[in-house]
Amino acid sequence: MAKLLTYKEVSEHKTVDDLWMIIDGKVYDCTKFVDEHPGGDEILVDLGGQDATGPFEDIGHSDDAIKLLEPMYVGDIDITSEPVLTQTTDMSSAATTGGEGNGLMIIALIAVFLAIAYYYFNQ
Ligand code: HEM
Repeated sequence: MAKLLTYKEVSEHKTVDDLWMIIDGKVYDCTKFVDEHPGGDEILVDLGGQDATGPFEDIGHSDDAIKLLEPMYVGDIDITSEPVLTQTTDMSSAATTGGEGNGLMIIALIAVFLAIAYYYFNQ
């Protein structure tokens, strides 16, 4: 019978030297594969310890890529276990981007205001 792993157990393996991920309900140890991944190591480390089913399928990985998963299989995810929140860093970087956007908007408004003032005073 397959070994059942909790989301918390999987989330503890998220470094380049110890990298697990969940794809389609199965847990894979991708540590040895990180350096060989044609899509790069960074993308795998970013998704380390998490459910990567969506990103994995979005890329449209080949049947060969799916076969590569077989030897990395560790066990199945216990879907009744408590999920682990992993979005914190993404949220803060999104907030920073929003802040930069607002800053640019203010500069654009000041430039428009100065252009109108220049035109008005040179009448
Ligand atoms: C352990 C799981 C994974 C395996 C075994 C794997 C394997 C592969 C293989 C063999 C390729 C070459 C193209 C192909 O045969 O489909 C590939 C390409 C790629 N993979 Fe993965 N992959 C894994 C996980 C992921 C994940 C989670 C992402 C996240 C989005 C990802 C992103 C990519 C990208 C962007 C490429 C395209 C590289 C290019 O053509 O420039 N992969 N992967």
